[in-house]
Amino acid sequence: MEHFRNPRNVGEIPDADGVGSVGNPVCGDMMTIYIKVEENRIADIRFKTFGCGAAVATSSMITELAKGKTLDEAMKITRKDVADSLGGLPPIKMHCSNLAADALHAAIEAYRKNKEVDR
Ligand code: FES
Repeated sequence: MEHFRNPRNVGEIPDADGVGSVGNPVCGDMMTIYIKVEENRIADIRFKTFGCGAAVATSSMITELAKGKTLDEAMKITRKDVADSLGGLPPIKMHCSNLAADALHAAIEAYRKNKEVDR
């Protein structure tokens, strides 16, 4: 609830190193996560979502969980970690937390792809 009322890290990073967007097939909501990477760690992270309150809360929570982590650690953050950190989500809202984890992983994959192109 606290993350729903006061979401952290909302917004965009205009010069992001990786951007991940996913749509939720269950409800049609959308989520985008932006990351800045320094020395293989997530230095900054922001999100934008067109989703329900649970999607906002889980995105807010995942940005807090991921910040400062290495990319490998952040790849291991699961939907369940997010839901657990929020003190559990009602089953009907579990799909909302999928969005945040999937968007984070997509942003990291996009960053890794960008880097390969640069090399
Ligand atoms: Fe769509 Fe929650 S109802 S993300």
